[in-house]
Amino acid sequence: MASSNSLLLLLSSCSLFFVLAVSRKGFASEDEAHHYHTLQQSSFIPSSICNPSTIGPKKSGSLEVVHKHGPCSKMSQDMVQPLNVEQILTQDQSRVDSIRARLAVNTAKKDALGSKTTLPAKSGSTIGSGNYIVTVGLGTPKKDLSLIFDTGSDLTWTQCQPCARSCYSQQEPIFAPSSSTTYTNISCVSTDCSDLTSATGNTPGCSSSTCIYGIQYGDQSFSVGFFGKEKLTLTSKDVIDGFYFGCGQNNQGLFGGSAGLLGLGRDKLSIVSQTASKYGKVFSYCLPSRSSATGYLTFGSGVGGSNVKYTPLSNSQGSSFYALDLLGMSVGGTKLPISSTVFQTSGMIIDSGTVITRLPPTAYSALSKTFRSQMTKYPLTKALSILDTCYDLSNFTSVLIPKITMFWSGNANVEIASSGILYANGIQQVCLAFAPNGDDSDIGIFGNVQQKTTAVVYDVPGGKVGFAPGGCA
Ligand SMILES: *[C@@H]1O[C@H](CO)[C@@H](O)[C@H](O)[C@H]1NC(C)=O
Ligand SMILES: *[C@@H]1O[C@H](CO)[C@@H](O)[C@H](O)[C@H]1NC(C)=O
Repeated sequence: MASSNSLLLLLSSCSLFFVLAVSRKGFASEDEAHHYHTLQQSSFIPSSICNPSTIGPKKSGSLEVVHKHGPCSKMSQDMVQPLNVEQILTQDQSRVDSIRARLAVNTAKKDALGSKTTLPAKSGSTIGSGNYIVTVGLGTPKKDLSLIFDTGSDLTWTQCQPCARSCYSQQEPIFAPSSSTTYTNISCVSTDCSDLTSATGNTPGCSSSTCIYGIQYGDQSFSVGFFGKEKLTLTSKDVIDGFYFGCGQNNQGLFGGSAGLLGLGRDKLSIVSQTASKYGKVFSYCLPSRSSATGYLTFGSGVGGSNVKYTPLSNSQGSSFYALDLLGMSVGGTKLPISSTVFQTSGMIIDSGTVITRLPPTAYSALSKTFRSQMTKYPLTKALSILDTCYDLSNFTSVLIPKITMFWSGNANVEIASSGILYANGIQQVCLAFAPNGDDSDIGIFGNVQQKTTAVVYDVPGGKVGFAPGGCA
C-alpha cells in the first residue's frame, strides 16, 4: 500500500439551513419591497418530508442533488449521524483552513519553480458534516453509489472491495471491481497515473505494476487504493466509458455513509476534464433551499439561458479551484462603504463544500454593521460559533431582512436568494450567514449557503461562471 501519510488535502462541511418563503405582501413601502425579503417564522423549521423540486432542467446528464442530512437523502439517519449546528460550523472552519493550506502549497510550488513539494499535513479537516450528494452508477452491471460532490477537488473515488486495509460503513454495498466486467487497473507507467500528482497533491505509488493513488482531506480523512478505469453511468443516456477513479482500499474519515467523492475541480482528472469531449467542460448545479428539497447537477450547456449573469473565471488560485473576482456588495440597497481593492487583494473562490461565505475582515465588518443597522427592530443574541450577528426571533411571526447583492466583475450584480442570508440554530438564534477571515490577505470563499436556489453555471472554455436566480426550490 502506498504512502498514505504523505498525503493531504482539503474539504469538508456543510449542512442544514432552514429557509424561507418570500412574499411581496405586508411591506410598508415600495422601497421596502425592493430592498427586503419577508420570511415567515415557519420557514426556520426543518421539514421531515421530502419535497422534490419541480423546476430545473429535465435534460439528459442531469443528476438529482440532495442534502445528506435531509429527508430526500437515502442515507439512514444512524449512518449519517447528524451534527449539531456548532459542529457543522467548526468543521466548516477546518475545510476553510485546509483550502488555505493547499493554496499556500500552490504558491510555494510556484516559488520553487516546479520542483516537487511535500504537502504539509493539516489537522482537523473532515468531510463528514453533510455535504450535497448525487447518485451515480459504476461498473457493469452498474451499481448505484452516492457520492459527495465537490468543486474544490479533482479525483473521484469510491470505497472498493476487498477493502484491503479499511472501509468505513456506507449506505450502499461497497463497489466490487472483481464483479464488474468493465473495470481495469491503471499501470504505474501511464501518464494518467502521473496526473495524480497534481490532482491529489501526492506522488502516486506502485504495487505489482498497478498505480496507487492517495488523497488526504486532513489528518483523519483519507482514501488510498488502486487507480482504475471503469464505466460511469450518470443517467441512462449519459454513460462514460473508461472513467478514471480511485478504487479505495484504505478509507477513513467522516464521509458519513456516502460511498466516496465526485471531484468537479478544474484539474486533469476531474470529471469535468475527463468528460471534456462529451460536455465541453460545462456543468451547472443548483443547491436546494432546504434539506427537504432537491436540486440538480447537470453536465453540458443549456442551463439558465438569458437569465444567467456571467463573471470571468480567473486562474489566480491554483489548478483545482474556480476563482472569481468580487468587487463589492450591497445590503438592503446600501453599497458597503469599502474599496473594491479589499476584495481584490484577498481574491475569492467559489466552493460547493464550504458552508458559510468567508470575507476579508474589513468587508465583513462593513457588512455586519450595515446589516445590523437595518435590523434594529430585532433583538441581538449570542454568537453562534463563527457567526457573530445573531438574532432571537421568537417573538416575530414574520421577519423583514435586507437583501444582499454581490457585485462580481463583468458587471454581474447577483442577488443572494432569501434562503442564502441567514443560518438558523432554531428560532432563538438566527444569524447572518457570513464570516470574516483572520486577515485581509486570506482568500475569500463563496460558500454553499449563499448559492442556494441559484443555478450556478461553470463554463471553463468560456472562462466564466454564471448565476441565475430561481434554479431550484
Ligand atoms: C488490480 O491490481 C491489484 C494490485 O496489483 C490486484 O490485486 C487486483 O486484483 C487488480 N484488479 C484487477 C481487476 O485486475
Ligand atoms: C418576547 O416578548 C416577551 C413579552 O413581551 C418579552 O418578555 C421577551 O423578553 C421577548 N423576547 C425576546 C427575545 O425579545
